[in-house]
Amino acid sequence: MNYCGLKLKSDLFLAPMHEYTNVGFRMLCKKYNAGLCYSEMIHVDSFYRDEEYFLNFPEKEKPVAVQIIGNNLKSIGYTCRVLSEYADVIDINFGCPMEKEAESMCGAVLLNFPKKIEDIVKTAVKSSSVPVSAKIRIAGTVKNTLKIGKLIEKSGASAITIHARKIKDNYAIKPDLRVIKELKNNLTIPVVGNGGIDSYEKYKEMKETKCDAVMIGKASLGNPLIFKDIKENKRALVKIKTQTELLKEYISLDKKYNKHYEFSYTKRHALAFMKGFKGSAQIRNKVSESKNEKELLKVIKHIDI
Ligand SMILES: Cc1cc2nc3c(=O)[nH]c(=O)nc-3n(C[C@H](O)[C@H](O)[C@H](O)COP(=O)(O)O)c2cc1C
Repeated sequence: MNYCGLKLKSDLFLAPMHEYTNVGFRMLCKKYNAGLCYSEMIHVDSFYRDEEYFLNFPEKEKPVAVQIIGNNLKSIGYTCRVLSEYADVIDINFGCPMEKEAESMCGAVLLNFPKKIEDIVKTAVKSSSVPVSAKIRIAGTVKNTLKIGKLIEKSGASAITIHARKIKDNYAIKPDLRVIKELKNNLTIPVVGNGGIDSYEKYKEMKETKCDAVMIGKASLGNPLIFKDIKENKRALVKIKTQTELLKEYISLDKKYNKHYEFSYTKRHALAFMKGFKGSAQIRNKVSESKNEKELLKVIKHIDI
């Protein structure tokens, strides 16, 4: 598919996920058919202070979408200028509901301040030499969300992702597909649908909105094969052997390509991988206790496959 000037092999995207979508995990999902992978959100003020730390995008993983969050126009402009050399798409987060972000007027809270959204998108577009997209949630009503969508498009964004839940909705709430359809019917830029996709059937249902691509978050954690399985319309059984192999593959990719390999990420991913099979709860307990990679690998090595 074509998206933001990129030729992608799949219309299934990996969602940006804080503390999860690091280099190794993005590369693993890409290997198993994710068309485009989004980085964890990068706060523009932190980037402004220490850009070297965040510039961690190996050539081998391209194309990559890098997500930013913030509201300081100077930091946004600076971050977009620098990131343009590394990212293929720069995505702006207007969907994060976390209190910490809301208190500093970043993320989903901005859906209540359309003028600020306009300023942020315009600044990002002006400062970037790559396409800029925005990720939003339902802004109260479908009608109001469409208003925001139109504003984002008019401000120069090349695409929009809609997480079809409201700000206060938790992940158990069924996404409202009407909002995706409404955006798709009324905007000319590509629309990416997001929320609750964990099977071929749900992917198909979301695609009925005519959205250009479907973004997967939680269901990919511990299951990077989901991108391949959905495309092939199969539901693979969770097997210990596959899970341990995938985890080892993640570790090897992250160690090879991540400039700042961190064990805390490996442990978090290991806890996600070690789920869904007999005895997984005990394994997770042991993984939780591991203090370094050596200890963690010892736990995996002793799993009775
Ligand atoms: C652990 C976690 C971290 C997340 N971090 C981000 C983030 O950094 N930026 C963002 O736009 N959304 C973030 N999200 C939201 C996801 O991108 C996605 O919109 C949401 O999980 C809904 O998709 P899903 O139902 O397929 O999980 C996060 C979600 C989870 C579960």
